[in-house]
Amino acid sequence: MIIPRPRHAESRPGWFRLRPQLLISHGPGAERAADLLANYLGLRGGDSSAQIHVELSAAARDLGPQGYELVIEPHRVLLSATTEAGLLNGVQTLRGLARTETVPCQHIRDRPKLPWRGVMLDVARHHMPIEFLHQFVDVMALHKLNVLHLHLTDDQGWRIEIDGWPRLVDVGAWRPESMVGPAGSTRFDGVPHGGYYTRAELRELVRCAADRGVMVVPEIEMPGHVRAALAAYPELGNFPGRRLPVWTSWGISEDILGVHDTALEFCRDVLRQVTEVFPAPYVHIGGDECPTTQWATAPSALARAAELGFSDPGLLHGWFLGQMRDTLRDLGRTAVCWAETGRHPGGPPPGLVLAAWRDTAHGALAVRGGHQVIMAPHRSTYLDYRESEPAGPSGIVTTVTDVYRFDPLAGGLPVAVGSRPGVLGAQAQLWTEFAPTPDHVRRLAFPRLCAFADSAWRSTAPDYDDFRRRLAGQLDLLRALDALPTPETTTPGTPTP
Ligand code: ACM
Repeated sequence: MIIPRPRHAESRPGWFRLRPQLLISHGPGAERAADLLANYLGLRGGDSSAQIHVELSAAARDLGPQGYELVIEPHRVLLSATTEAGLLNGVQTLRGLARTETVPCQHIRDRPKLPWRGVMLDVARHHMPIEFLHQFVDVMALHKLNVLHLHLTDDQGWRIEIDGWPRLVDVGAWRPESMVGPAGSTRFDGVPHGGYYTRAELRELVRCAADRGVMVVPEIEMPGHVRAALAAYPELGNFPGRRLPVWTSWGISEDILGVHDTALEFCRDVLRQVTEVFPAPYVHIGGDECPTTQWATAPSALARAAELGFSDPGLLHGWFLGQMRDTLRDLGRTAVCWAETGRHPGGPPPGLVLAAWRDTAHGALAVRGGHQVIMAPHRSTYLDYRESEPAGPSGIVTTVTDVYRFDPLAGGLPVAVGSRPGVLGAQAQLWTEFAPTPDHVRRLAFPRLCAFADSAWRSTAPDYDDFRRRLAGQLDLLRALDALPTPETTTPGTPTP
């Protein structure tokens, strides 16, 4: 009945009746999971004779760190797992089953295929209200999606307050208008756009997400996709005398960070402050779509290349990412970046988790190169692409079936265990060049995010008919949570007349 489909569910005779007067109890370490369940189902706390009990137990050890066991009997429900993450997954299963008042008795033993089941939300191209992020996290949790990758900075906007660099938000968070249509268009909408998040807002988001088992991974784009930062602080660029506005166009800009000490110190300071807001063990540093043409002529970049003995300034790309990887390692964090294997001489340095956004073969190459990889192939996971014809600005259609059939292990790659190379996870992407409001994002996300949740979780062969049957109930649940777009929202990417 639910999405994602549990790995193993065995029906038992009878029904468990959900009534408002039911009591819930919990064992040590299971408070947060029990509170969340009580909150979802409107339950009150009780003692060990309560009808619903939540506990940490070594008995479910074979289900791994995110697995859980759920026994539903006519008069009692027992949810157990070895970790809080497992319990929180079980809570979401019960939340999904509780859409009807009588829940069929059953025994569920469930675990995910992949540790990282992420969604990237681009709040740089269009700032989204913080209330929407809270709702989005809760809806992610319903789908057992456990990583919100927040794309906080880009050419078109900087969305996080940083101490000592006030112009990042005073200047970098605002643009006078936006391009209408895809990169290269000559039309603009004349509508000012902007906004940013305070550190207090982001900390609260992180806390609420953690209550639901969702980790928030911040992304600070570097060394490309930085026009908003350069508009605020031109001295961070390669030609400090050049004044640039926050970019109003889409596409790939040649204006990138310098590799001089001022730019490096800026990046280190920002990363340090970002880790103070986001406790996640990972920080995403972008790394994609970074033409290095300016490094081939800027005096400071040429001096840096000479100092490092690089005959090709393109080698500075991997060097730069290595510097930031080390900064993050000193802060106890692992750097993630978009895989650009093959674009820059030397390739990505070791020790980075790579988000493979081209195709799964590209991800497989990164695994062979010794990396942990998050599979994010654009044809299956870019939910900003249209779901049906006409193709829209990207020229690509990604259907519900495309997303549902997505195999993050590409037929047999290993899952990353410990620090060994392999597939760490899968991730869906919501870029927002053409999604100016939460309702536009909802229209992009559903129902494809439901399909993605299934492909990131399941270990069994895809069964699309079964998925469609489960989807109908899931959409009812999403409607009840006000998570679906209002019918009048236009399809994202439709040019404003
Ligand atoms: C990307 O689409 N440039 C990650």
